[in-house]
Amino acid sequence: MPSTRTKVEVKGFEAKYYDLLMDLLTFGRYEGMIRKIIADMGIQRGDEIVDLGSGTGRNDCIMLEHTGKEGRIVGLEIGQEMMAQAVEKCRDYPNVSFVYQRIEEPWEYEEEFDRAFISFVLHGFEDYDKEKIFDNVYKALKPGGYFQILDYNEFDLKRTFLPIRWLFEKAECPLASEFVELDLKKMLSEHGFGEFDTKTYALDYVRLLTARKPDGTETA
Ligand SMILES: C[S@@+](CC[C@H](N)C(=O)[O-])C[C@H]1O[C@@H](n2cnc3c(N)ncnc32)[C@H](O)[C@@H]1O
Repeated sequence: MPSTRTKVEVKGFEAKYYDLLMDLLTFGRYEGMIRKIIADMGIQRGDEIVDLGSGTGRNDCIMLEHTGKEGRIVGLEIGQEMMAQAVEKCRDYPNVSFVYQRIEEPWEYEEEFDRAFISFVLHGFEDYDKEKIFDNVYKALKPGGYFQILDYNEFDLKRTFLPIRWLFEKAECPLASEFVELDLKKMLSEHGFGEFDTKTYALDYVRLLTARKPDGTETA
């Protein structure tokens, strides 16, 4: 059951116009920002990627430019309206598929993917569900695979410039306010991930956090 403190399940009007709303909210800068972030992910040709909460598929189309035809992308999604747009957008790419799957419930994948990507989804889960998501990702990644989390950076909301704080609290759910104060690296370490890398965007309010699943060759 989804938490009552989340807004991350996108439906109705918001789902139908999701890409347009993101473009308007960011004054047309969203596509450029996401292209830059995906270019920074280090995706290799032939990579197999699982995208958690893949939404309208916009990110998947961009990631495909990096994986090439040799790669594969599997989007996990529960929003019918969001998934319908993703299927339509990616209809010419046989190496992309979308699966109805709650990301906090058990998945069928085991050591299948080079990367797992989750973009603006994780902040909407209670910590006990984040733990389930981390376990699912760990199991689904190949040894040495990367878990890449694009979401709000850590910051002190109480000390944030008032208009930004007001907008954040109006637009986002209570879980997002907790998320920005969470030590995500510590949580990920407790689930077996390491070798963290951080890149920030949008005045440091947005972070791409990369964590690696050990490949077994690490020294103690
Ligand atoms: C804020 S949107 C982000 C979409 C996309 N990742 C992006 O960056 O454009 C959140 C997405 O996560 C999906 N979602 C929410 N809860 C989910 C769950 N438990 N399992 C799978 N998808 C979920 C929503 O339907 C929605 O498409």
